Amino acid sequence: MEKSFPKNFLWGGATAANQFEGGWNSGGKGPSIIDVLTEGTKSTSRKVIRNIEDSYYYPNHRASDFYHKYEEDISLMKEMGFKLYRMSIAWTRIFPTGVETEPNEEGLLFYDRIFDLLKKNGIEPMVTLSHYESPFYLTEKYNGWENRDLIDYFVKYASVVINRYKGKVKYWLTFNEINAAVYPFGAYFALGMLDKKVVNLSDQKKYDSPQKRYQALHHQLVANAKVVQLAHEVDSENKVGCMVAITANYPYTPNPEDILECQKSWEDCNYYCGDVQVRGAYPSFAKRIWKEKNIKLAILEEDEDILKKGTVDFFSFSYYMSNCISTDPTLDAASGNLVGGAKNPYLKANDWGWQIDPAGLRYVLKELYGRYQIPLIIVENGLGAIDQLNPDLSIHDDYRIDYLKDHIISMYEAIQDGVDLMGYTPWGCIDLVSASTGEMRKRYGFIYVDVDDNGKGTFNRYKKDSFYWYKEVIGSNGSSVLK
Ligand code: BG6
Repeated sequence: MEKSFPKNFLWGGATAANQFEGGWNSGGKGPSIIDVLTEGTKSTSRKVIRNIEDSYYYPNHRASDFYHKYEEDISLMKEMGFKLYRMSIAWTRIFPTGVETEPNEEGLLFYDRIFDLLKKNGIEPMVTLSHYESPFYLTEKYNGWENRDLIDYFVKYASVVINRYKGKVKYWLTFNEINAAVYPFGAYFALGMLDKKVVNLSDQKKYDSPQKRYQALHHQLVANAKVVQLAHEVDSENKVGCMVAITANYPYTPNPEDILECQKSWEDCNYYCGDVQVRGAYPSFAKRIWKEKNIKLAILEEDEDILKKGTVDFFSFSYYMSNCISTDPTLDAASGNLVGGAKNPYLKANDWGWQIDPAGLRYVLKELYGRYQIPLIIVENGLGAIDQLNPDLSIHDDYRIDYLKDHIISMYEAIQDGVDLMGYTPWGCIDLVSASTGEMRKRYGFIYVDVDDNGKGTFNRYKKDSFYWYKEVIGSNGSSVLK
């Protein structure tokens, strides 16, 4: 019998408003934390320009211009056969500063149009409520999630959109890569925290405060649980997932010290948040983390009950790479947005140093399912690469096809291993601005967007070879790559 994926498998693609939508100050939208960032590169940090001075370039302001091109984009998704489109709502389109009492109707109408069009095209939306794009005002006024008031602001925003789109959206994700908060890099992106002295984003490490970060993360975990409960109350059809950045960590050697260090990295990085969101309480190893980092969390009495009652329905995650964990500090390091680790001699990496490891995906799927026993979905995966637009407007991205194909085969094997996998939405299905570097040249899409790192270009859309390939994958429910 021909091999294929389970019936109803949710094939699709993923984007986030801040990296894709543009229209940063249109329709009453306020500035988000990403709107004050300049472009950067692999080796040059993005800068924070608090007053958004004209002399700098801000790649996310127009991004890929989905704000004006959504009709064309959704019809391209339909042509590929998408069943699911993971996207985010820009919080600042609904509450420009986060503290207004009434939502911005124009912003709400924009997403009404998107959801209606998706429905017309038979595509189910999966909506992230907060994807690295909280209102910049909340950063300036409260230092973001460090302040407990953010819980109420976020719940108010979530309540407005979950009620408004009842019947139109049933899959919700609360915080994108919530565990980014355990790394200094996540202080700004995930938590909206910014020390007044930070100019280059890379400076964050210098002013990092684990105490503040973990406290802010606690506030998000409480907000997450409240929103899960709220979504279930608004509509019993709603399904809410957590979203965690997962890296396959391997011990570099069989040295027991490396094994223990690796296990610790799984706990600290991969499991700390998911354990709370799925199981409803901090894991037993959390106390050790707090002690080691000299953290004293302010946890209110009511929080325990909130966390217990607001557990998620499914587990979503991003997966891009694996890393080796070693106790030897002299080894060569690999790269990644959140994590580093030792280079794995068996793996190749992309141009940004992210190690490519399809087998690692099968490994993490089995680990996660074994631990949580709830449906899983991969909502980000893909190859950031430099593509060449040819004079005949073709783009030959066989390297991307190879990457995705190998990951899909791994997913299939994991399903044979017993994993309940709901779907797959590769990242940046239509090219968008890179989160870490602000570059456009780091492309993930099946569709090329004609704009460069300086914002020059027509913004026209062109189908890459991977577009036709993915269309066949979806059309055959995976059979075309499983032959
Ligand atoms: C994830 C984020 O960390 O990785 C996305 O959720 C991001 O927002 C993606 O774009 C890829 O990272 P980058 O830096 O290549 O854009």
